Amino acid sequence: MCGIVGVIACRNVSKILIEGLSRLEYRGYDSSGIAINNEDGVYSHRAVGKVQALKDKFEAYPLDGKIGIAHTRWATHGKPTEANAHPHFSGDDLALVHNGIIENHEPLRRELKAKGYEFKSETDTEVIVHLIHDAMKSQPDLLKAVQASLAKLEGAFAIGVVQKDDNERFIAARKGSPLVVGVGIEENFVASDQLALLHVTDQFIFLEEGDVVELSRDQVTIYDAKGEPQERPISVFNHNIDATDKGEYRHYMMKEIYEQPKVIAACLDGRISETKVLTSCFGADSGFLKEVENIHIVACGTSYHAGMVAKYWIEDLAGLPCTVEVASEYRYRKVAVPKNTLFLTLSQSGETADTLAALRMAKELGYLTTLAICNVPSSTLVRESALTLLTNAGAEIGVASTKAFTTQLTALLITSIAIAVENGLSAEKEKELVQAMRSLPAYVDLALKEDAHIKNVADRFANKHNALFLGRGTMFPIALEGSLKLKEISYIHAEAYPAGELKHGPLALVDENMPIIALVPHNDMLDKLKSNLQEVAARGGELYVFADKDTDLHSEENIIFTEVPKVDSILEPIVHTIPLQLLSYHVAVVKGTDVDQPRNLAKSVTVE
Ligand code: M6R
Repeated sequence: MCGIVGVIACRNVSKILIEGLSRLEYRGYDSSGIAINNEDGVYSHRAVGKVQALKDKFEAYPLDGKIGIAHTRWATHGKPTEANAHPHFSGDDLALVHNGIIENHEPLRRELKAKGYEFKSETDTEVIVHLIHDAMKSQPDLLKAVQASLAKLEGAFAIGVVQKDDNERFIAARKGSPLVVGVGIEENFVASDQLALLHVTDQFIFLEEGDVVELSRDQVTIYDAKGEPQERPISVFNHNIDATDKGEYRHYMMKEIYEQPKVIAACLDGRISETKVLTSCFGADSGFLKEVENIHIVACGTSYHAGMVAKYWIEDLAGLPCTVEVASEYRYRKVAVPKNTLFLTLSQSGETADTLAALRMAKELGYLTTLAICNVPSSTLVRESALTLLTNAGAEIGVASTKAFTTQLTALLITSIAIAVENGLSAEKEKELVQAMRSLPAYVDLALKEDAHIKNVADRFANKHNALFLGRGTMFPIALEGSLKLKEISYIHAEAYPAGELKHGPLALVDENMPIIALVPHNDMLDKLKSNLQEVAARGGELYVFADKDTDLHSEENIIFTEVPKVDSILEPIVHTIPLQLLSYHVAVVKGTDVDQPRNLAKSVTVE
């Protein structure tokens, strides 16, 4: 999604802004731009495509100044063209960058046109800058004009705005889209996330919904939605700074796949003992575990798949009903909330607009409490949820979620066991599960050892146009996740089915051109799944089987076998995810796609 960087300093800010944009590239975008404010006025460069195209313009035509705003745009209103790229201007007086969507942009545009404003882009953003310009006719102070204008906007926004002739400050604001203030020495910053500013500061202030902030070189003044000045705490960034370094790897995605043993261990650390789940990991308020009678899980994309696995665990271990729903559906329907229901959100970023909207809606619906399982401690989701369990995966840069998913599953397993313990799970069974979890990082490491073999499998796979993923039980959501990963980064059309559904329709697709990826752990469903595979083999389908040795499956004509470590059945969804991540990665590399920033996608989906 769009990314914002803004700086006021005593030095030239163009390099800081460009480095900030490069650090935001992972969020997904299709054009970029910068406006620099100096004594002569506000000047800008904009470019379609990668930030490199913008850098090229800077090299050809350098811009110097001590105040600037910059933007990566992920197109919503209007194609990715230079005219639609931010910053947008009102005359030559004001320049503005925006992340979010202005829902009432059409009536506002009509009003502004009637007042004589000329629009140069198709964006919803351009109305904001003209609105502020118009407000300044009656209220010449930029801060007050911004406050008055924002009150007229419906939708979500984070903005940065600079004014010609004002070389002492710039204004930023957020409502519904993320924005963080970076605090420096005689220089201050804003950005869509902390990673964009780690080259200049590690001190951050998280803005609340509706905050407007005035930034000068030596001061950050924050006003809340009512216009009252507010003090907000400064936090020091404590993520590992090499999150933004690919190290020995060609892509962030591969680095993040290989980090999984380490980050799963970090997710378990302090949350389980030798024999128990430590409920203190839910904070002082873990009393909800005793009261909960139902669980509603709401999330999007990969996080939703993690939620689907948790449904199997919770219903199996705790015997409590659990529903799982995508946030974009949940937020627009009338929800019946049974007594004592836990509302559980899952999100890597903690900034996904649909998930946040679902949480805000849920808070009005009488849930027992709200719990966020999230990877970003400073995110809006964490700040707005009553309880949090952090996944501790470290910053994930690749758009395709990998380590964030397996740590979500780890955190969900901890949660499922904690709830189950209050609902009759024996101490003996708890100990067995916890001991299995302690071996998880080692098994994930073992699963990674198949990398070279999977690379060969990928060579065979890369010319395919379609793929069908099959699994049963907890392997069904993993099949969904495998198919999502494949389509996201290799652009191969892929679908996933519970294997038992094959004969109810999708079997019609099976012929020698349709690869079938089957997830076959050695568990209670093995014989049933083997029958499903027979149905495929009988129709000439090419089977890519991911199974452990005990299944007695192996490579033969039309079967390409990949070994997955044999683990306790509770761990199967996590361990079986690893080869599917590797398969998608290698297929994408063979196909030459942009692995870390696949087309049309964004890392942090901050618009609806
Ligand atoms: O940050 P979130 O976990 O809330 O994001 C939800 C989805 O946008 C995300 O999981 C998406 O599906 C990933 N690109 C999948 O790889």
